[in-house]
Amino acid sequence: MVGRCGGLPLAIIVLGGLLASKATFYEWDTVHQNINSYLSRANGQEQRLGEVLALSYNELPYQLKPCFLHLAHFPENVEIPTKKLIRIWVAEGIISLVHNEGEGEEALEDVAQRHLTELVARCMIQVVEKSSTGRIRTCQMHNLMRRLCVEKAYEENFLLEINSWNVDELRGTSRARPVGKVRRIALCLDQDVDMFFPSHLKSHHHLRSLLCFHEKTARLAEWGLMKSFFNKCRLLRVLNLEGIQGQGGKLPKEIGFLIHLRFLSLRNTKIDVLPPSIANLKCLMTLDLLTGNSTVQIPNVIGNMHKMRHLYLPESCGGSIERWQLGNLKNLQTLINFPAEKCDVGDLMKLTNLRKLEIDDPKFGHIFRSHNLQFSHLKSLFFVSYEDISIVHVALGCPNLYKLHIDGPIKNFPEPHQLSSKLVKLKLMGSGLLVDPMPTLEKLPNLSLLELQLDSFIGKQLHCSQNGFPQLKSLVIHEMSNLEEWKLDKGAMPSLIKLKIENCTKLEKVPEGLRFLTTLQDLEIRSMFAAFRTKLEKGGEDHYKVQHVPTVVFCYCDY
Ligand SMILES: *[C@@H]1O[C@H](CO)[C@@H](O)[C@H](O)[C@H]1NC(C)=O
Ligand SMILES: *[C@@H]1O[C@H](CO)[C@@H](O)[C@H](O)[C@H]1NC(C)=O
Ligand SMILES: *[C@@H]1O[C@H](CO)[C@@H](O)[C@H](O)[C@H]1NC(C)=O
Repeated sequence: MVGRCGGLPLAIIVLGGLLASKATFYEWDTVHQNINSYLSRANGQEQRLGEVLALSYNELPYQLKPCFLHLAHFPENVEIPTKKLIRIWVAEGIISLVHNEGEGEEALEDVAQRHLTELVARCMIQVVEKSSTGRIRTCQMHNLMRRLCVEKAYEENFLLEINSWNVDELRGTSRARPVGKVRRIALCLDQDVDMFFPSHLKSHHHLRSLLCFHEKTARLAEWGLMKSFFNKCRLLRVLNLEGIQGQGGKLPKEIGFLIHLRFLSLRNTKIDVLPPSIANLKCLMTLDLLTGNSTVQIPNVIGNMHKMRHLYLPESCGGSIERWQLGNLKNLQTLINFPAEKCDVGDLMKLTNLRKLEIDDPKFGHIFRSHNLQFSHLKSLFFVSYEDISIVHVALGCPNLYKLHIDGPIKNFPEPHQLSSKLVKLKLMGSGLLVDPMPTLEKLPNLSLLELQLDSFIGKQLHCSQNGFPQLKSLVIHEMSNLEEWKLDKGAMPSLIKLKIENCTKLEKVPEGLRFLTTLQDLEIRSMFAAFRTKLEKGGEDHYKVQHVPTVVFCYCDY
């Protein structure tokens, strides 16, 4: 702890240590002693505590301060999704590029990621969840720290929070508004938001960012109510309307006034038509159109949004037969639902900065068969295919893949050295493999999550050998209709925590080797025949194999 929080005054280290969630016992002990001696010297602890925390803010390097203040947007007890957070930071312009001699320019998202990590190291935020690749997926602020953050944000006029407590008070009166011009609003309303749009917002001409939060549905009588808001707040850079439910599925054309907009999320809004004026939003860096409706009518303008970095498209972008050209989106890092039916495959090949790509249309799986792929930055890939897929091609074209999810037939399963040794997460569906893939997969040094689903293997026997799958934490074996036997040698999967066996109707029993998996915490048996289950229950002949597992869940629903 002391090492990680190095360079800060002792009191902060102490408090920081207290606030961190994962201190070791020794660290906690030291922290405890230190805090006691500190507090015994301090009178009026509550206030002193506040002062000490304030120091930790004052000590922050200047580039981290706005990042920290920005966290005041998020309501108490909310787990903050870091991917979105980082995109908003970038859109806000609070992340600046660092030029390193010799090395190329770092992506803004990577700089932001480092800032986030630094805030964690300074114990100002806590990691809640990490992804399988070790990325921080969600984070949270300790309540004391959050209080400081909100206070500072208020003091510095960084943002205004509008919630059900103060919405009435704020409307109509100027009394409660902070002095100066409000540039950011966090709207935390668990009710109809009509009262807010447009009457309240009209007065905020200087608004740069509006983030909406709500636990339940936030209703808007009709999207038309946004017109005057779009018309007035033309300086907006960040607009998160996630989850707002309005009558009519058409976004008003006035959205086109927001020419500075860099972040627009319409996720779960049921919007199904975008107006042609969306073409004006040339600065967009993140556009999230996973609206909850599988089809959204999108005009043919996306290809001109050259600053686009993260693009989430719906399953279908509408019936127009116009061709889209996306080949110029050189900054694109994330592309969800590549609109293969509207685009030239050659365009996709030009998007060489992609880090995450999803293609959910099986007609285009052939891309990964014949073309000369070169996605050297791609970390995460999902695609569906009707035709046979060559994993070797995929591995050669995408040498830095961490996550791979393929839904479709795979003929020849490669040798271990032909797969990326970086793979952390692999999901195969409907591969129809004739040969047991385990001897290859078990040699991937970092594989941590494996799902074999829907007859991804159609033989009778799987065999996992000693020392195989050194890092595997989670394994799902789902619907392998021919599988009769699964052999698991002692010493295989030494790190396994979760195992799910689902609907493998011919599998007679769990492997003997299960009893050596001392790390196993969760075993889920789902849609298996009663004969299979009763063997595992108390008194059953296989119970000894699983009696050490803390949680064994049977789902009886199906058979
Ligand atoms: C999705 O859009 C269609 C029209 O494009 C509409 O009829 C339907 O109600 C929408 N679905 C939802 C859930 O809003
Ligand atoms: C495996 O993961 C570790 C820790 O994340 C990393 O340092 C190492 O480079 C990875 N190995 C490969 C082959 O990618
Ligand atoms: C179980 O798998 C069989 C094929 O093996 C399939 O027909 C059936 O629908 C599956 N059942 C469930 C509940 O998924």
